[in-house]
Amino acid sequence: MPAGGLEGVVAAQTALSWIDGERGMLLYRGYPIDELARHATFEEVVHLLLDGTLPTRAQLLQVRRRLGELSALTPSVERTLRALPPQTTPMEALRTGVSLLGSGVPTSDRVEIDRARRDAYAIVARLPSVIGAFEAGRRGRDTAVPDPDASVAHNLTMALTGKEPDEETERAMDVALVLHAEHTLNASTFAARLTASTLSDIYSAVAAAVGALRGPLHGGANERVARMLDEIPSVAAVGPYIDGKLVRRERIMGFGHRVYRTEDPRAPHLREWAQRLADHNGQSEVIDKALEVQRVVMDRKGLSVNVDFFSAPLYTAMGVPRDQFTPIFAASRAAGWTAHVLEQQSDNRLIRPSSEYVGVRRRRWVPIDQRG
Ligand code: COA
Repeated sequence: MPAGGLEGVVAAQTALSWIDGERGMLLYRGYPIDELARHATFEEVVHLLLDGTLPTRAQLLQVRRRLGELSALTPSVERTLRALPPQTTPMEALRTGVSLLGSGVPTSDRVEIDRARRDAYAIVARLPSVIGAFEAGRRGRDTAVPDPDASVAHNLTMALTGKEPDEETERAMDVALVLHAEHTLNASTFAARLTASTLSDIYSAVAAAVGALRGPLHGGANERVARMLDEIPSVAAVGPYIDGKLVRRERIMGFGHRVYRTEDPRAPHLREWAQRLADHNGQSEVIDKALEVQRVVMDRKGLSVNVDFFSAPLYTAMGVPRDQFTPIFAASRAAGWTAHVLEQQSDNRLIRPSSEYVGVRRRRWVPIDQRG
């Protein structure tokens, strides 16, 4: 019987990313995350994951053009997103949106990799548009038409804040997208690969992944971190607040990880950018509280932050609505999800693990009148 939660179980082979949890290392196709965070744009990472190499200048231009051309939604998808019930949250809208994008896409007994790669690019291009259409709809704004010449980071920030981002804010979003794009066989990626392994279509695989990402133990944690930082009235209140949570045996969101035994290597970049944007905007309260939470949780529990912790003060500093934090994660991870689907399809075998039966062995049928 494998460890609970499939810990340590190898369930797929991948050439997309590699983690050393003991040393806190993450590579995308061999490139260290630190170098990607410092130098790469999200579009370069998309090409790296979907096509296998860092793009040349000409290829990068093509990727940008391709993503720009594919980003528009059909009027009926946009209308439907705007007509969702008023209680719909952005992650629910995104889950529905992915399904809408995949309307009429057939399943096939044979994998057509070229078609799947086209669909992969379409998904990466359109997720920000789905997020933007829903956000504009609930604010009563016209949907911002994505600028096909602008970066994904620019268009996504604009869609979420309703404002043209300055250079610093656009690069901060770009770095966040680079950092969230891929992370081996996390829960949502596993959901995507599992769905693809039945020869279902790539949209269904991504819809399954969005559903898995939403949970607070996975991508939903960043929104909970923002709520926690809101609840803490001041830096001085951090210690008693965290102690109270630990006494009640509550989890502190944004801390701990299944794989990393050190600080998540993505976290320092998010911390640096959250601090930079806070300085840039002259609003240090949220980041100061976040830094104190990090110090206190390390002191009390020895737990390090994960990717979801400093993304919360970063997106807060950008002016992104809190319930749109997890959709940003999804817009970025779409690159990793779709790359994993292509990898799964290129050498597919149905993923179908076993279960250990722990119920009653054998029972006699009881007619309905004799039960009770
Ligand atoms: N707050 C408090 N305690 C935590 C913790 C957290 N965020 N993360 C782990 N722990 C503790 C657990 O209580 C457990 O202690 P115990 O053995 O005394 O009960 C121990 O550390 C191991 O936790 P476990 O849940 O078995 O680890 P896991 O590998 O299954 O969990 C996470 C990994 C990410 C689900 C877990 O760390 C967590 O819930 N984090 C908060 C949610 C989050 O930030 N998710 C985003 C992940 S990128």
